[in-house]
Amino acid sequence: MSQARLHLGQTLSFAADPFDQGPAAVRHERRGALLVQEGRIADLGPADALRARHPGARITDHGDGLILPGFVDAHAHYPQTGIIASWGKRLIDWLNSYTFPEEMRFGDAGYAAEIAGQYLDLLLANGTTTVCSYCTIHPASVQALFEAAEARGMRIFAGKTCMDRNAPDGLRDTAQSAYDDSLALLRQWHGRGRASYVITPRFSPTSSPQQLQALGALWAEHPDCLMQTHLSEQLDEIAWVKELFPKARDYLDTYEAHGLLGENGLYGHAIHLEPRERDRLREVGAALIHCPTSNTFIGSGLFDMAGLIAEGQRVGLATDTGGGSSFSMLRTMAAAYEISQLRGHALHPAQLIWLATQGSARALKVDDRFGNLAKGLEADFTVLDLASTPAIAQRAARADDLFEALFPTIMMGDDRAISATYVAGQRLKG
Ligand code: GUN
Ligand code: ZN
Repeated sequence: MSQARLHLGQTLSFAADPFDQGPAAVRHERRGALLVQEGRIADLGPADALRARHPGARITDHGDGLILPGFVDAHAHYPQTGIIASWGKRLIDWLNSYTFPEEMRFGDAGYAAEIAGQYLDLLLANGTTTVCSYCTIHPASVQALFEAAEARGMRIFAGKTCMDRNAPDGLRDTAQSAYDDSLALLRQWHGRGRASYVITPRFSPTSSPQQLQALGALWAEHPDCLMQTHLSEQLDEIAWVKELFPKARDYLDTYEAHGLLGENGLYGHAIHLEPRERDRLREVGAALIHCPTSNTFIGSGLFDMAGLIAEGQRVGLATDTGGGSSFSMLRTMAAAYEISQLRGHALHPAQLIWLATQGSARALKVDDRFGNLAKGLEADFTVLDLASTPAIAQRAARADDLFEALFPTIMMGDDRAISATYVAGQRLKG
């Protein structure tokens, strides 16, 4: 047994969902402690009580640092790391001009390994401990990400992006090869260590009905896998889907008709939804993944967070790197706040942090394993410096409570606010 380690600092955990209970859902210890043993949280509470209960534990004192669950990014494209912040295009043009040429390079296993490692280190620098990522059509791109995550001990969700039409030569698979390659990768990686395989049709415009059907069949054969795709991100895209699938009732129907709608489904963006789509998503208990920096950067629209949560949808939060313009979940929370403001609703800091941790873990159906600080959960956590820059420090110094102290870091913070990132109890940043 490895020796227990006691982490001292402020602690933030969730006793409930702040969208149900408001800020009272948050447990805050001004002088708290977290006991980590064998990669798990073995105890949690006030520092004095934990020191008394565990006198033999080694101590890491984070001072005034705020210990909170590691951030969970529920939708990203690691192969787009190198083209993040590419100027001037909207979705379809942006895919053709920047994304597809870059994704073409991931058939080269060496290049894929280089970017996968660089990407995961950027996540850790930003306090993100788990991501659910698209790869490219190349199995080598999937191997590279799973291997890089395994080397770091990170919990990872990923899958081969499938597309067999409306993509350039060299970046298309077929219905059969998408099924075969996905199955081989699923068999190799799903449930190995901290890895989970995610069935990944990119979106309806780049998959033939035959390919959607084949991946629907694969999902039916492996229903415990998650399935991720894009839904109703931009109006031009929706019009294109209508042309490509003239018989479909709406965009969601192009998935539903091929066995790709279910409670283990993750639907990225979900901005311009029809009433029928909202009803069906809620009925099946699917997860909607909000990607706010992407939605403003590519000019997609304003996600209806308040309305969707009020009607009982499951929502996660994500960067959507590199359509999203940041690797940071702090910046992502800030953008979610701003978009919600534009729709007339102020998200509370407790709700923002919840979305970036528990909410995304719940969308990925793993909130019983991580995404909170609680006994028995995996010890993936982040330590925030709430005074990481002079601009943030001067505002936080006026704060009367935790949320007022935390909100400037949510709105103005970046990787400088992350003093440490721990994965399964191991310090990987700081
Ligand atoms: N829709 C289909 N593919 C993508 C992608 O890579 N990024 C975004 N933002 N939307 C997509
Ligand atoms: Zn995406």
